[in-house]
Amino acid sequence: MRTPHHHSFYPIVMITGTSSGIGFEWIKILAREKFRVVATALPKSVQQVRDAGFKDSDPFKLFDLDISDLNRQKEVVREVQKRWGDIEILINNAGISYRSVIEDMSSQSEAHQMSVNFSGPMHLTRLVLEGMRKVFRGRIVNVSSVGGMMAMPTMGYYSASKWALEGATEALWFEMKPWNIHVSLVQPGFINSLAFKKVFYSDKKGLKITTSPYASYYENMTQFISFFMKHALFDSKDVAKVIYKTICKKDPNLRIHGTPDAFFFYYLRRILPARLFLRLLYCMLPKRKDWVRK
Ligand SMILES: NC(=O)c1ccc[n+]([C@@H]2O[C@H](COP(=O)([O-])OP(=O)(O)OC[C@H]3O[C@@H](n4cnc5c(N)ncnc54)[C@H](OP(=O)(O)O)[C@@H]3O)[C@@H](O)[C@H]2O)c1
Repeated sequence: MRTPHHHSFYPIVMITGTSSGIGFEWIKILAREKFRVVATALPKSVQQVRDAGFKDSDPFKLFDLDISDLNRQKEVVREVQKRWGDIEILINNAGISYRSVIEDMSSQSEAHQMSVNFSGPMHLTRLVLEGMRKVFRGRIVNVSSVGGMMAMPTMGYYSASKWALEGATEALWFEMKPWNIHVSLVQPGFINSLAFKKVFYSDKKGLKITTSPYASYYENMTQFISFFMKHALFDSKDVAKVIYKTICKKDPNLRIHGTPDAFFFYYLRRILPARLFLRLLYCMLPKRKDWVRK
């Protein structure tokens, strides 16, 4: 049985986006382990997490946090510091995905995609680094994607956000090495989850889906991606376990494949000459000959 006395020795772990998918599986794992957990969820989803049985207690604290709200990030981190101390492990998990060809993307949607998947997580990272440097110990895990190593039509901005996250995280890996702070990117591939139902569409496309010159792109890519997700052999729980192993590892790698298909795509991209890799993927796109409707 845990006692409040022991809690002061448990490391403080913070994870964003815990209302569903990987984040939700993660708080289930953490609830069984010796951590003080700072879970965050969008304001609209906080109640959902509470209803699932995660109520505030000594080793568990739930905050509402929209990751793109930088002031709220500061308030949450300050509150945790006051209550428990500095965050020792940060998992940037919250993420969204736009389904839009580049031409249909609005500037507003672009800013939304980038702030949730890149600038928000990086800002939160900056807020916790000082505390980690002070004790010469810490861990940052940024949840990336296979989309962070390759791009697909209608997912350009999702990839852009994850590539940005990958670039900054790679630099951080070098910067934090001398401070004994381990920095990792977990790259899940297709996951058997309902996350594909949550995709965002840019305003322009939402208005003109059937008349869009790209209508066939959306139709085929949506089916293609949902097919792979529905039939994926791995789910959010598997990725949550990979993240858990990453934070327990003495010296984790910078890039970690979240699912075996991520491993497959990584090697395919490494082994094949770039020209061949792109053409091979292009040939695999569903009904691509009908994409331009004349
Ligand atoms: N599912 C996949 O196949 C897949 C593949 C590769 C990588 N990933 C990555 O894995 C991570 C987790 O995704 P998932 O599969 O678990 O999907 P998910 O079930 O949609 O979870 C994403 C979480 O992020 C939250 N979120 C959305 N916008 C937010 C914001 N502005 N501020 C704070 N939280 C926000 C969502 O909250 P609400 O539920 O309230 O909207 C949700 O809890 C993401 O970074 C994603 O890009 C997923």
